Amino acid sequence: MSFEKVGVVGLGTMGAGIAEVLARGGIATVGIEIDDEALARGRANVASSTGRAVKRGKLTEEGQAEILGRILFSTDFADLADCGLVIEAVPERLDLKGRVFAELDKVCGPDAVLATNTSSLSVTKIAATTTRPDAIVGVHFFNPAPVMRLVEVIFTERSRKDFVDAVTELVRSLGKTPVTIGDRAGFVANRLLFGYLGPAAHLLEQGRTAADIDASMTAIGLPMGPLTLMDLIGLDTCLEVLEAVHADSGDPRHAPAGLLRDLVAEGALGRKSGRGFYTYEGIGSGAVV
Ligand code: 3HC
Repeated sequence: MSFEKVGVVGLGTMGAGIAEVLARGGIATVGIEIDDEALARGRANVASSTGRAVKRGKLTEEGQAEILGRILFSTDFADLADCGLVIEAVPERLDLKGRVFAELDKVCGPDAVLATNTSSLSVTKIAATTTRPDAIVGVHFFNPAPVMRLVEVIFTERSRKDFVDAVTELVRSLGKTPVTIGDRAGFVANRLLFGYLGPAAHLLEQGRTAADIDASMTAIGLPMGPLTLMDLIGLDTCLEVLEAVHADSGDPRHAPAGLLRDLVAEGALGRKSGRGFYTYEGIGSGAVV
């Protein structure tokens, strides 16, 4: 089983990144959004990410045009009809994902693999909302998707093994490193990563400065400090992951800090909203809140 055409539903930060990875890998890609405005934003996400590569001399303008040309941007689920795989990357709400899978059920062929990029919901629970639980596989990319090599491929007790194997193979063929694992809150990477990110927010709350926390970890050799990384991931996503993992692990390191909850409640969601632990004028500029 191989995939010649792959759909992505939801072209926010993660969905657009996934569409870019697929198109860069030579795969005919269909990117679906809810309306024209969201679709334009999704297209702009891919254009700006590939544009960054052009500016750095890593991609020619023709190469960028080829990548963008390989993605059919659409608001019509019917365009997914001949996709062998569709990856759902809509916001982390079970009801919303359920509606997407109900639509996919109507348009996709009987042998289509239906995947979710969820980072905080149970793949098993998502599968249970669908009429094809055996077709559901998790495919968890990391942010920024075009750069991060790890992709977790998650199977449930019901997932068809040939589907899981095919998705794992696709991920490998895209130059990524697949780790194929069972369904458990936080899977593997977020379970470990958030045992480190969660306490960073607690330290800030307890009076350490953001500069000291981040500088300590970059000086150790990590590419960015934990607060900068949470701002990149999105504080709403961080809160959702911490809540899901904490409910499963009971580990106090996973308990979300009150400060994190407050920032999310204020709409300070990190880079994407211009303010999180830091404030941003442009990507990468940061002043401590
Ligand atoms: N989109 C596309 N490409 C990007 C990008 C983006 N948003 N951000 C950076 N890049 C590319 C650059 O173009 C550059 O590519 P090149 O090497 O081919 O020229 C490369 O990444 C390095 O970028 P920069 O030199 O501008 O910046 P850095 O060297 O500081 O790297 C970083 C930026 C790659 C984001 C690096 O800081 C990093 O690896 N940070 C950690 C990210 C991480 O841990 N992500 C996982 C988060 S957990 C998650 O997503 C799970 C979810 O479920 C919560």
